[in-house]
Amino acid sequence: MSEIAERLEELRDQGLYRRLRLIGGPQGPRVTLDGNQVLLLCSNDYLGLANHPRVKGAAAEAAMRWGAGAGASRLISGNMQPHSRLEKRLAAFKGYESALLFGSGYLANTGTIAALARDGEVVFSDELNHASIIDGCRLSRAQTFVYRHGDVDHLSWGLQKAGERAALIVTDGVFSMDGDVAPLADLIDLARRHGCRLMVDEAHATGALGPGGRGSVAAAGLSGEADVVMGTLGKALGSYGAYVCADRETTVYLLNTARSFVFSTALPPPVAAAGLAALELLESQPERVAQLTTNAVTLRKALNDEGLSVGDSETQIVPVAVGEAAATMALSERLLERGVFAQGIRPPTVPEGSSRLRFTVMSTHRREELEHAARLIAAAARELGLGADRPVVAQLAA
Ligand SMILES: Cc1ncc(COP(=O)(O)O)c(C=O)c1O
Repeated sequence: MSEIAERLEELRDQGLYRRLRLIGGPQGPRVTLDGNQVLLLCSNDYLGLANHPRVKGAAAEAAMRWGAGAGASRLISGNMQPHSRLEKRLAAFKGYESALLFGSGYLANTGTIAALARDGEVVFSDELNHASIIDGCRLSRAQTFVYRHGDVDHLSWGLQKAGERAALIVTDGVFSMDGDVAPLADLIDLARRHGCRLMVDEAHATGALGPGGRGSVAAAGLSGEADVVMGTLGKALGSYGAYVCADRETTVYLLNTARSFVFSTALPPPVAAAGLAALELLESQPERVAQLTTNAVTLRKALNDEGLSVGDSETQIVPVAVGEAAATMALSERLLERGVFAQGIRPPTVPEGSSRLRFTVMSTHRREELEHAARLIAAAARELGLGADRPVVAQLAA
């Protein structure tokens, strides 16, 4: 057996083996998976914009006008009107002076954090931050202080220890695997008092939280108060790519120093045009955001009514803890047989022993299908005998 085969075997033994599944057709509340119609409860296309005719039309038109690809990094030959227009609109939407596009959220986080926190400095990161933030901290060569999830006292202690070396606090706005929200007012206050920057990842908050879907910082009534906000175009905005909003000096600095911006090909023009069309839809149809909120409340309540805890979720991301990776995948498979598609989330995406099903709601789901899904989820958990010593059953029993 080759060494790679052995490592794969090890992943299988630990219940951590992953494989791709083929979706027939576009994202939507219901999709065809391996030939079967299923309710999709694990897409981040929160507002149903990935398959919206205006978004698709904008991409098609841009492809005809600007071509399929940007040809190079924007600093070389790839800067085009669709990029600049989208940046201006994003900055205005988020209430910042300036915005800079990146190829993806992963690239935005790694490039921005590594540019803002340097060798000899300290970056402060919530323990449940997304992997792209963790990797950004690693790339920065700064010392990383990982504070306990949402624990401002722990963070405050770390900031005091770091003194003048404190460079950056970075947090998810909405935590991607738990659906809870960062204590933003406290983080802004701490950043101010300790003279360091705060960066908020709005990947799951844009289009979902705050007035008109402006995000978690806006939802806290603190629009423009975080020094840097990052967001993605590939989730509620239905396209692909990401952006960082900040003052002009900071975005110019990032344009010069963020390696994932400098050394990576610009977003394809059709993708940027699709992002712009989605943003226009978001601004003109805020009722989509309201419907998403309503649907999220429906699913959380329906699961609670079935005796299942959704942890601290306050948003469209609704986790149901299982514990072991293998049991989580068994539950996911059982649900699939019943026509509900929700991926099991396992380490290293979440900490060891905290595997879960992560349900994500879309504005395009119907109330009845969310309530029906909750009944199926609870029944499947019971059938699998996730009993007594397993978290999901402790919840069922509670
Ligand atoms: C919180 C968070 N930040 C960043 C990213 C990365 O964004 P992208 O998928 O555009 O690379 C994701 C997920 O993909 C995420 O959940």
